[in-house]
Amino acid sequence: MWGGRFGGGPAEVMRAINSSIATDKRIWREDVAASRAHAAMLGTQGIISADDAAAIDQGLAAIADEFASRGVAEDSALEDIHMHVEHRLAELIGPAAGRLHTARSRNDQVATSFKMFVRGAIDDVVAAIDHCEAAILDRAEEHAATIMPGFTHLQSAQPVTLGHHLMAYREMLVRDRSRFADARARLNQCPLGAAALAGTSFPIDRDATSTALGFDGLTANSVDSVSDRDFVVDYLAAAALCSVHLSRLAEEVIIWASQPFGFVVLPDAWSTGSSIMPNKRNPDAAELVRGHSARIVGDLVALLVLLKGLPLAYAKDLQDDKAPLLDAHDLLMISLAAMAGMVADLQFDAARMRAVAAAGHATATDLADWLAASGIPFREAHHIVGRAVAAAEAKGVNLDQLSLSEFQAIDPRIGAEALERLTVESSVASRSSAGGTAPERVIAAVAAARAARRDR
Ligand code: ARG
Repeated sequence: MWGGRFGGGPAEVMRAINSSIATDKRIWREDVAASRAHAAMLGTQGIISADDAAAIDQGLAAIADEFASRGVAEDSALEDIHMHVEHRLAELIGPAAGRLHTARSRNDQVATSFKMFVRGAIDDVVAAIDHCEAAILDRAEEHAATIMPGFTHLQSAQPVTLGHHLMAYREMLVRDRSRFADARARLNQCPLGAAALAGTSFPIDRDATSTALGFDGLTANSVDSVSDRDFVVDYLAAAALCSVHLSRLAEEVIIWASQPFGFVVLPDAWSTGSSIMPNKRNPDAAELVRGHSARIVGDLVALLVLLKGLPLAYAKDLQDDKAPLLDAHDLLMISLAAMAGMVADLQFDAARMRAVAAAGHATATDLADWLAASGIPFREAHHIVGRAVAAAEAKGVNLDQLSLSEFQAIDPRIGAEALERLTVESSVASRSSAGGTAPERVIAAVAAARAARRDR
C-alpha cells in the first residue's frame, strides 16, 4: 500500500518486526467503525462521490460481519489491522476502496481507533469494579458485627468488625472507579482529521466524524493528536493502582486462609490441590491476582518509558502501545472477576476471628479511654493500663480476666463499669465516630454505598 517508491520488498525480518496484526487485530471493531464514519463524512462533504461512499460503507459492513463470525485472517505482509481492512475492502469493492484513505493517515486512524478501544475497555472495567463492589457490600452487611482483630504492623491492635475491614476495600475501588471515569472523560476527544501530523487540505468535517464516533469534541492540535498516548498511560495508571488494591486484598485472603490464622476457608471453587501433598488447599487465584498486579504495573512502566524522549510527532515506537494495554486490561478484568468471586464465597470462621481478636489485651486502649473520659490525662491513663497489662501478663491471663480488686490494686480509680469496656463487643460498639468500626456505622456505610450506586 505504500510500495510506489520501492523496488524490492522488505526483508523477512523487516516484515516480522513491522507486523502488528497479531496484537492490533483486537481493535478491528473500532477501526471499521471509524472508517465508516470517515467514508460517510467524505461523501457528505463531496470529497468522494456518494456512490463510492455507499460502496465503501457496504464493503466495511460486510468486513465487520466477516471478522465477527470468522475472525481476522492474519497476513503479516499486510502489517496491521488498518491494512487488513483496506486490503479486504479492495477485494470486495474494487478500486473505490482506494478512496477511503483520502484526507486521513494511519496515524490519526490508529489514534482514533485505539482511543475508542480504550474507552470501551474503561467501560468494561467500571462494570467489573461495580460487580466487585457489590460482592463486598453484601459480605460487609452480613458481617457488620462480626469481630476480627484489627492490625497495625500486622500486630493485633484493636478489634474491628469484619464488615468495616471489607468496606475499606470498597473505598479503594470507588477511588479506582473515579480514576477510570476521569481517564474516560479526558480521552474522549477525537483525533481523526489530524491526518499524518499536519491536518489536511481537504474540506473535511471533523465534528461530523467525532459525533458519529461518540466523542465529546475534537483534539485541538494535529501534531498532538497523532503523538499523544496519554490516554493509554491514564488507563494503565488507573489499572496499576486498582490492581495494587486487589493485590492487597488477595494478600489478606492468603494470610487469612493460612493455617496459623484460620480466619477463612477458601471454598473448593477457589482452591487448588497439590500434586504431592494431599492435605493442601492452595489459594492460587488470590496468588495470581497478587502476581498479575506486578505485570500490570510493568505495563504502565512500559508505556511511560516508550513515550519518554520520543520526539514529535508519530514514530513507530507508538505501535508498541497496544500490547501493554491489552495485557493489563485482560489481567485486570480477570483479577476483578476473581476477587469478586472469592469475596462472595469466602467462608469466615467468626469464632476463630473473635478469639484471636480478644487475645493480646486487645481492649487495653478501651480501658485507657475510659480512664481518660473520667478525667485522668490520657498519658497517665495509658501508663496505668500498661501496668495492668504487665500484671495480666505476669499472671498469664488476658487483661479482661483480671478481677476488679486486681485492677483497683493497680489504680483505685478503675471502677466496675470500666470492666464492661473490656469485651471486644463493647470495644467495637464504642467506636461509633464517623467512619468508625461500630456495627451501626458499618450498616450505615453499606446503605450509603448502595444509595451512591443507585445515583450513578
Ligand atoms: N500500526 C501502526 C500503529 O499501531 C499504525 C500507524 C502506522 N503509521 C505509520 N506511519 N507507519 O502505530
